[in-house]
Amino acid sequence: MSSHETPVGHAKIETNNFLMIVLITLVVAVGGLVEIVPLFFQKSTTQPIEGLKPYTALQLAGRDVYVGEGCYNCHSQMIRPFQAETLRYGPYSVAGEFVYDRPFQWGSKRTGPDLHRVGGRYSDEWHRIHLNNPRDLVPESNMPAYPFLGEKTVDAESMPKRMQVLRTLGAPYSDEEIAKSVEDTKGKTQMEAVIAYLQVLGTARTAAPVAAAAAPAAATAPVVAAAPAAGDDARVVVENGMVKFYFASGKADLAQGGSEALADAAKAAKDGKKLQVSGFHDSTGDLATNQELAKKRAFAVRDALVALGADAAQVELVKPTATEGGGANPEARRVEVSIQ
Ligand code: HEC
Repeated sequence: MSSHETPVGHAKIETNNFLMIVLITLVVAVGGLVEIVPLFFQKSTTQPIEGLKPYTALQLAGRDVYVGEGCYNCHSQMIRPFQAETLRYGPYSVAGEFVYDRPFQWGSKRTGPDLHRVGGRYSDEWHRIHLNNPRDLVPESNMPAYPFLGEKTVDAESMPKRMQVLRTLGAPYSDEEIAKSVEDTKGKTQMEAVIAYLQVLGTARTAAPVAAAAAPAAATAPVVAAAPAAGDDARVVVENGMVKFYFASGKADLAQGGSEALADAAKAAKDGKKLQVSGFHDSTGDLATNQELAKKRAFAVRDALVALGADAAQVELVKPTATEGGGANPEARRVEVSIQ
């Protein structure tokens, strides 16, 4: 065969649609199987990570609400291992966190933020207000309101059956947990259930590595480290009745202090005054990340006010502003609370 001749058979494949389809399917199937099958047997994808517990009856009922209401249409539950994602959401997701999730809620559609690490980020009260009407907390939100979840109760009687099925699939429920599931969920609203579910999301992994990472630091840190989670630069200053929270670089944890001034502000809100929560950020790094961080910090302050009894509707979140000057500026990493 000379070089310009088509190899025997090739012409036949290229001119025969059906044969081409069969061969492509074969090649893709073999390639796929080689990649996918080993995952079924790898420990890192099949074993639960340390500290992971199957959902309690109430959380499970909440998960059903989450699926039933189609929350997954706008929210993914998978943080990818990219810096922008881990800065925004926290540690990236690993397969071992989802072994009791049937079906998983990973998703790729993010009309709203990823929810995998939302557990513990806000108070139950925050979620209740947010689900009742997201606009009360995030004025620009386009998330639908779910006030009716507070009026419907969960189907408690169906829980034992659900948990039994999950047990056959590998979730380590005890007979006792299954027996108690009706009692644990009876009369609970769908709102309570979905909040219980949201509050546990992603908490197994954050607990373990954070504790491990904190251990060596604690050995060298001074005994008086007031709020280690908040970081070194974090502090609270009260000036002319205005509470100013300063944050460590890249963090949104509140420093301790200023509780009296904050309680005063919450009280003013209860008395009908409006509170304004304004965030500022510096201009090191990426603008989108800075804005997101400023927003998270403002949320943290607002949550603290709500926890102290302020009505969230009285707390106005001002869109965060970038401060002039450029570079990393600790003064710019702040959130101010003012009484209007
Ligand atoms: C049409 C899309 C859409 C649907 C459906 C939706 N959300 Fe959202 N969600 C959003 C958007 C957009 C945001 C961001 C603005 C805000 O906080 O309201 C958000 C924010 C959130 C947040 C706050 C996340 C954070 O990190 O600040 C939670 C929690 C949440 N949604 C839960 C739910 C639950 C539970 C459901 C189902 C009952 C649901 N969402 C359905 C769009 C949606």
